[in-house]
Order: sequence, then C-alpha cells, then structure tokens
Amino acid sequence: MSRFINSIAVLALAATSGLAFAEKFPNIGRSATPKEIAAWDIDVRPDFKGLPKGSGTVAKGQQVWEGKCASCHGTFGESNEVFTPIIGGTTPEDIKTGRVASLTNGRQPQKTTIMKVATVSTLWDFINRAMPWTAPKTLTTEEVYSVVAYILNMAEIVPDDFTLSNDNIAEVQKRMPNRNGMTTNHGMWDIHGKPDVKSVACMKNCPVDEKIHSTLPDVSRNAHGNIALQNRTFGEVRGADTTKPAPTGPLSAGKEAKASAAGSSAAAEPAGLSMAKKNACVACHGVENKIVGPGFNEIAAKYKGNASAEASLVGKIKSGGSGVWGSVPMPSQAHVKDDEIKTIVSWILTGAK
Ligand code: HEC
Ligand code: HEC
Repeated sequence: MSRFINSIAVLALAATSGLAFAEKFPNIGRSATPKEIAAWDIDVRPDFKGLPKGSGTVAKGQQVWEGKCASCHGTFGESNEVFTPIIGGTTPEDIKTGRVASLTNGRQPQKTTIMKVATVSTLWDFINRAMPWTAPKTLTTEEVYSVVAYILNMAEIVPDDFTLSNDNIAEVQKRMPNRNGMTTNHGMWDIHGKPDVKSVACMKNCPVDEKIHSTLPDVSRNAHGNIALQNRTFGEVRGADTTKPAPTGPLSAGKEAKASAAGSSAAAEPAGLSMAKKNACVACHGVENKIVGPGFNEIAAKYKGNASAEASLVGKIKSGGSGVWGSVPMPSQAHVKDDEIKTIVSWILTGAK
C-alpha cells in the first residue's frame, strides 16, 4: 500500500514539474525522469555534497595513472609540451600555510594544477566527469578515488600507503597546498570585472543581459582550428564554431552549435572524414593543420606512394605511439572499429581531401 502511495506521489511530482514545460511548449518532449536527472547530476561540491561513497589506494591509483593518464600527463605528472603539468611547484611549507609560495615568488616558471587548485573536490569531480580525455566518464568510482590519491601522493600531500575515501577526504582538504588561495571577489575571466560567482540564481522571468558575449579575443578566434570540431563527442555538447565571428546578440541555447554540427555533416563529405569526425580524431588532427597530432594532409604527403603504409598506420592507430611526428604520443584508439579505422586510413592515403 505504502509503495502504491509513493508511486502516486512520484507521478504527481513529475506531472507538476512537467506542467510549466508543457504550457510553454505544447506537444513537445516530456519531463526528464529521475533516473535521467541522476545520470547528469554528478557534480561534487566543495562541501562534498554529491561525492559517491567509496575509496581507493595510492597503489591502485598508480596503475590507473600509468595505464590511462601518463601518456598525456607524464609518468610523474610533469606532462609534455602540449598539456599543462599537474604536479610540481609545491612544498611542505605550502601544505602548512595553505598558500603556494611559488605562485607569487616566480620560482616556478609554469603554474601546475596542484599549485592552483584550492579544493580536492574539484580534482575528484573534474577527473570523474572529464578524464581520460579521449574516454570521459569511463572510470569507476574506485578508480577515481585511487587516481586522486595517487596525484595527492605525487604532490607529497598523502603517504604511499594512503587510502582515500569519502570518510577522510575532508581531512585531506585541510592539507591542500593552495586551500587558502581562492578568491571570489572578482570576475573569473576579467579580474577587474564584477564577481560572476556571486550572482543570484534566477529561474523565472530573468532579466536578459543583452551584453553577454564571447570574451575570446579576435586574434585567438581561429588560432588552433575550429574548436567545435575539436570537442569530444559526448552527448549534445558541441563547442563554438570559431571559424565564424562571435555572436553579438544574446546567446540562444545552442542554436549556433547545432547549426554548425548539422552544417558539417549535411555537405556530402567523404566517409573517411565523417568517421574521423565521429570518432573524435579531429580533436587532435586538423584536415589541413596540426593540432596535437599532424594534419591529415601532412600524413598523406609523408606516406605518398608507400605501399606498406596502410597496414602500419592501421596498427599505429589501434595501439597508439609516438616518435614519428614528435614526442607527443597518440593514445591507443582501440575503441574504434577495425573497418572504420581502415576507411579513415584509405581516405588519408588517397590525399585526405
Ligand atoms: C589523451 C590525452 C589525455 C589523457 C589520456 C588524460 N588527460 Fe587529463 N587532460 C588532458 C587535456 C587536453 C586536459 C585539458 C582539458 C581541458 O582543459 O578541457 C586535461 C586536464 C586534466 C586535469 C586538469 C588540469 C588543469 O589544471 O586544469 C586533470 C587533473 C587531469 N587531466 C587528470 C587526468 C587523469 C587522472 C587521467 C587518467 C585517468 C587523464 N587526465 C588522462 C589530456 C589527457
Ligand atoms: C589525443 C590526440 C589524438 C587523437 C584523439 C588521435 N590522434 Fe592520431 N596522432 C596523435 C599524435 C600526437 C600523433 C603523432 C604520433 C607520433 O609522432 O608518432 C598521431 C599520429 C597519427 C597518424 C600518423 C601515424 C604515423 O606513424 O605517422 C595517423 C594516421 C593518425 N594519428 C590517425 C588517427 C586517427 C584515425 C584517429 C581517430 C581514430 C586519431 N589519430 C586520434 C594524436 C591523436
């Protein structure tokens, strides 16, 4: 009986939250189910609200790191010429004071993640939702705890035999080297601007700020190719099409991004290129420009007339590797189907046009 009442209560809730939506957009869509909301509602806050229960050891974290992170971030978190370093520039004294001295004394040429990050929840949350870069949201809860423990261990915040868990993470927070280094008194991008984090949340009849615009300077607009193509393909999220001028009007929910995604696939394009887009190869390879890896046209030129290139490139894409174009490695693309890799390779070898 009580179960029956509960399910009526749930239905009633779902119905009221759906009402406002249905009034505005009759006959379109439906309300999200609690399960769907739970799948997206994964943020972990500084007070650890949202943190799943669990634990992980430094030792297990080292395995995760070496298997899934080191190819881009370096064996010791020092990273390489493309990615910013995670570890370095903090001292035992910083752990005591909660303020990283090398941020202001200029002794460290490049700011590392561990120098800047004030909250351990941010590390947990970011890795959980965004890493590894090529396969976000694939780590288990234990793997996230473990790899965060390993990162903290590399930064000498926790000892070698440490197990990080939801029970002791608040204690670890008290040892974060830059825990006292966060300020919310200014804008996030424009440090002379007003503090955007202090806005009051608005859910109804909100004033539209006509001046909302991209702060990307024009010189940077297309500096590394089209950001929309370099975004990882995850759900509906797409980056701004940086080949076009910045929008001047108020931002309209993803209209521009959708249009550009549709535009790029609507044109009749070779199957190899479509598959390179679908499998996010274009996150690292421009067709005509180097990004992280060489441009597809450069690869085409290098292997022109080389009869054994096809088999060796297929193998290289599957297993990853470095040294042909520089020291930055290509991570293994073993998740891409064999016939799709072959289609992409033959498109590249016929000139990548
Ligand atoms: C294929 C390359 C690649 C792999 C593999 C990878 N990362 Fe990353 N990582 C990146 C890139 C690129 C960024 C910057 C992303 C951004 O700003 O959106 C990043 C950012 C980060 C950051 C935030 C750095 C900062 O200061 O903003 C952390 C922490 C991190 N990665 C941890 C990990 C962990 C842990 C793993 C393994 C589970 C991992 N990464 C695997 C490429 C990679
Ligand atoms: C995280 C970035 C990244 C992603 C994603 C990526 N690559 Fe690469 N790729 C690289 C880098 C870096 C190199 C250069 C490696 C080297 O110097 O040996 C490379 C090299 C290559 C080469 C030339 C290999 C050689 O030995 O000359 C081909 C072909 C290639 N990638 C195809 C692909 C395809 C197809 C995909 C998608 C299924 C893909 N890549 C995804 C970074 C990436």
